[in-house]
Amino acid sequence: MLENRQIKTIEGLGVPGNPGPVQRAFIEEQAAQCGYCTAGIMMVGAQALLDRNSSPSDAEIRRHMTPSLCRGERYVGILRAVRRAAQTMQAAAPANAGETAR
Ligand code: FES
Repeated sequence: MLENRQIKTIEGLGVPGNPGPVQRAFIEEQAAQCGYCTAGIMMVGAQALLDRNSSPSDAEIRRHMTPSLCRGERYVGILRAVRRAAQTMQAAAPANAGETAR
């Protein structure tokens, strides 16, 4: 059923010595919640949003993240982390833009 399909997991975003922008932002903003929801928040929430919209507004972040959020205390930290990851990815975009043109 998943033949010829690409599956991306949280491990695919980066490695411990070189975390990806979303992982790094969650670390720097201390936005991780529990072990049950953090991977989903990062993958289905932050990364999926930023893959589609590299410069989301706060309202767009809140709307996109709402299904992923529990009532944990780090809600504001998650919003800061998504904003930070978006800024990091935007700053890196010009360097990556030439790679897709090859
Ligand atoms: S489900 Fe992870 S902190 Fe609530």
